[in-house]
Amino acid sequence: MKRVLGVGVIGFGTIGTGVIRLLQAQERKLHDRLGAWLRLVRVADLDLERDRGVELPHGMMTRDATELIDAADVDIVVELIGGYEPARSFVLDALRRGKCVVTANKALLAVHGSEIFQAAERAGVPLGFEASVGGGIPIIRTLRDGLVGDRVRAIYGIVNGTSNYILTEMSRNRASFEEVLSRAQAQGLAEADPTYDVDGIDAAHKLCLLIQLAFGRRVPFRAIPVEGIRHVTAVDMQYAAELGYAIKLLAIAKLLGTHIEARVAPTMIRREHVLADVNGAYNGIVVQGEALGQTFYYGLGAGMMPTATAVLADIVDAARFLLGEASRTPYPLGYRWSQQREAKLVAPESVESEFYLRLSLADRPGVLAQVAGILGREKVSIAAVVQQGQQQNGWVPVVMRTHRARFGQVQRALQRIVRTRMVRGAPVTLPIEEELGKESV
Ligand code: HSE
Repeated sequence: MKRVLGVGVIGFGTIGTGVIRLLQAQERKLHDRLGAWLRLVRVADLDLERDRGVELPHGMMTRDATELIDAADVDIVVELIGGYEPARSFVLDALRRGKCVVTANKALLAVHGSEIFQAAERAGVPLGFEASVGGGIPIIRTLRDGLVGDRVRAIYGIVNGTSNYILTEMSRNRASFEEVLSRAQAQGLAEADPTYDVDGIDAAHKLCLLIQLAFGRRVPFRAIPVEGIRHVTAVDMQYAAELGYAIKLLAIAKLLGTHIEARVAPTMIRREHVLADVNGAYNGIVVQGEALGQTFYYGLGAGMMPTATAVLADIVDAARFLLGEASRTPYPLGYRWSQQREAKLVAPESVESEFYLRLSLADRPGVLAQVAGILGREKVSIAAVVQQGQQQNGWVPVVMRTHRARFGQVQRALQRIVRTRMVRGAPVTLPIEEELGKESV
């Protein structure tokens, strides 16, 4: 049995640096746990010059990731470059060569998971991806192992730190999305191209993986309805607070009989629910189990050292496998790929929820009654109406909370209301997850 296990890291960026630091800092402790040394033997990156503040022995760095994958002393390949290609080819190559693979790449697994999970299964080696969702929060292990005895009914996740940071700042400072985003970019807290984060794409990648782990079903990434936070306004946050809610970008998946409801959208949740207190760059995930009820997982979902801890956990799992300890499942998702079924998704217009509506209505007698009538004809029942704020040139803001209704009915009613010309501009619609608050963690 090998007593020294070689680790090769592809991608010496922020997370790569954290992984290398942690490997160096924990070397002795990990040896005591494993009875073998985990040694960094190769690092591949196109940039060989930049100072990352980490000392590496001369000759350890290469620009050639293929050389790293092929090297006989590399037992565990850690892919940290992100994106689809060449990450996909590196991961598949490593698996074909029988190397254990660890990746933090949710975009890759959400889009090419079918190919990659099956390749890992064929190779019979571990493929760890704990760092791909929730950064340092061990949510993959929790769903794969800890909750395997229960039946998961629903997942509600704040899984994108950047958008959560922006929403938190907007709510605290009553600032606009654009203001907060540009401040966050200037401070390096948001990417120069924030699309994946603020448009909900990153959250949808993560939701794809959570659904496969929780429900054993495959949802093509493109089938998930995704809405980001660009159109959320400080005004809506203010009204939400007055009604007792917070607005969060939620990744939601629910098992509804034979179907799965999945979506990423800015959503109103009760202020007293624990998810409403997940602020700043933090992530929080609520899992609703049939037997267990709600459990809550909270922590830093991004950043150098938090994410590195998740990568290290997978490296240690791979080491245990290589040392012959049967401490982990041979299947990355916790079940055979052939057991996975295609999910039947609830159509977006059939999603049922309570809704928050904000309309700018003509300030004339009878307008509110007509609006209520149109909503009523579409079977959308109003639970509360708030008319506050100043009349502006004959228009007043009116906020409504509906009882449970189908999204399609709400949309149809709003289209009719817009056609009457009693409303100015586009109405704002946000789903309210009242169900989430029914059981509190
Ligand atoms: N960009 C992600 C976020 C972190 O803002 O949460 C990596 O998953």
